[in-house]
Amino acid sequence: MSITLLGIHHDRAAFVCSDEPVLETYVRDDRRALRDHEGATRVYVLAYDAQPSQIIGYFTLATSSFDFADLPKNIQRMYPPYPGAIILGRMAVDSRHRGKDFGTTLIHEAFRLSLETRQLVGFIAMIVDAKNDGLVTYYTNHNFQLFAGKLRLFIRAETMQALLDEAREKLHRSTESA
Ligand SMILES: CC(C)(COP(=O)(O)OP(=O)(O)OC[C@H]1O[C@@H](n2cnc3c(N)ncnc32)[C@H](O)[C@@H]1OP(=O)(O)O)[C@@H](O)C(=O)NCCC(=O)NCCS
Repeated sequence: MSITLLGIHHDRAAFVCSDEPVLETYVRDDRRALRDHEGATRVYVLAYDAQPSQIIGYFTLATSSFDFADLPKNIQRMYPPYPGAIILGRMAVDSRHRGKDFGTTLIHEAFRLSLETRQLVGFIAMIVDAKNDGLVTYYTNHNFQLFAGKLRLFIRAETMQALLDEAREKLHRSTESA
């Protein structure tokens, strides 16, 4: 499987997200995702290598500011004030492909790409605004922490790296024992 930027070769009209129609429309609408892709937001698509036009899932990344005072005090002490963050703006897996860990793959790819960016542009964490309490649980299961209000979560860049290292190690062990 691979992650690529959304492009005109993707079959956007075939993407289905029946429980969150806004996330379906975003990809299908010519005036939204493709235009965002021009710069304000980057839209990344997960597809099988054998079917590169079929969108299994997608997420968006952009830079973002946040209120430093909302972070837990012990984390504030680690950084100078006014640090930046990456926002995981939208994320969805096609309704027909749920429950196969593609959501985890998207999150890990979002970590990987963000950490690559960090070689060039500093930031301290990734932020996500969950749509509901169920999704708060989903993101805390991926080691995000709540910080502002009931639905905004963050994960420090160092934790993102540690999770990627752990996933790589797990994969390595499973291929060795196979
Ligand atoms: C959230 C989403 C991306 C997860 O994708 P996925 O590929 O099905 O997720 P995974 O296979 O990696 O993980 C499945 C696990 O997540 C849980 N999960 C999935 N969606 C969930 C939700 N909305 N609320 C709570 N838990 C959820 C499943 O119960 C499952 O848990 P289990 O492993 O304990 O059985 C997908 O359900 C989706 O696209 N939802 C609609 C769009 C959306 O809400 N996006 C997030 C916007 S903040």
